[in-house]
Amino acid sequence: MTTAAHRSASSRSEMLVTGEFAFSAANFREIADLVKAESGIDLAESKATLVYSRLAKRLRALGIPTFSDYCDAVRDDAAERSSMIAALTTNVTRFFREQHHFEHLRKTILEPLADAARRGNRVRLWSAACSTGQEPYSMALTVLSAIPEAAQLDVRILATDLNPHVVAHGMKGLYQQEELSDVPPNLRAKWFAPVAGEDRGALKISDEVRSLVSFRELNLMGSWPFKGPFDAIFCRNVVIYFDRDTQNMIWQRLTRLLADKGALYIGHSERVSGPASAMLTADGITSYRKSGGVRA
Ligand SMILES: C[S@@+](CC[C@H](N)C(=O)[O-])C[C@H]1O[C@@H](n2cnc3c(N)ncnc32)[C@H](O)[C@@H]1O
Repeated sequence: MTTAAHRSASSRSEMLVTGEFAFSAANFREIADLVKAESGIDLAESKATLVYSRLAKRLRALGIPTFSDYCDAVRDDAAERSSMIAALTTNVTRFFREQHHFEHLRKTILEPLADAARRGNRVRLWSAACSTGQEPYSMALTVLSAIPEAAQLDVRILATDLNPHVVAHGMKGLYQQEELSDVPPNLRAKWFAPVAGEDRGALKISDEVRSLVSFRELNLMGSWPFKGPFDAIFCRNVVIYFDRDTQNMIWQRLTRLLADKGALYIGHSERVSGPASAMLTADGITSYRKSGGVRA
């Protein structure tokens, strides 16, 4: 073995985290490569402690003794790869996060479409990384404020996420009191009701709001089994975990699915880049319209 090869092999066997389970640089690299290939999430080595603590729970649950054995297991087991990726996602969200996006959606997209919706036209919105549902339900509450009879019209919100646990949570529509602090009191009183039984203490969002939203598991890196067009897409606080080329690819695919003059809303620390930039016009803080452009 050459000195350089020897140095590289010994640094790959170097322990990144020592604890209940040995976790080497080689283990980290293998996990990071799998996660990136399947989900787009780009894990820097500085995240080794986080990866260790999230996955140690999987090793314990499965009775696997070392991270090397865990790497062997995920290599051959698509279901465990999916559980691993779900364990590594960050699902932080809240109702009406970036309130200005919902005002923009109401004034610029929904109110102008309301009459056409009443005549039977479709209105389609997409929350493309919906986490536990607060984002698509905030969109639904905004829809109902602009078009109160929306549930009887052809108005639908698609809510998708890679992580099956958050999708199941969203479908249930159950939230704790403190999670509703950003929901205006009049909307809280109108659309949320306390539940009895084992979920006592939680509030459930009403069936009318839930009927507007369809939750589905969907990996943004995979194929998308729908054609659009969408009048608005929320893709917020997810591509920040991807590398630049992947971000550019996702912006381009999303923009292709937008209706002419449709709106794209992105996270506060994200920027549209790559080929999509030529098809979009900035229209407010981290919101864009598909060119043809902003109506005068
Ligand atoms: C921080 S949350 C953002 C939730 C919401 N959009 C918001 O801004 O409040 C990021 C979400 O992206 C999801 N996610 C990560 N990679 C994904 C992928 N490749 N495809 C779909 N969803 C993904 C995660 O599961 C997580 O629920």
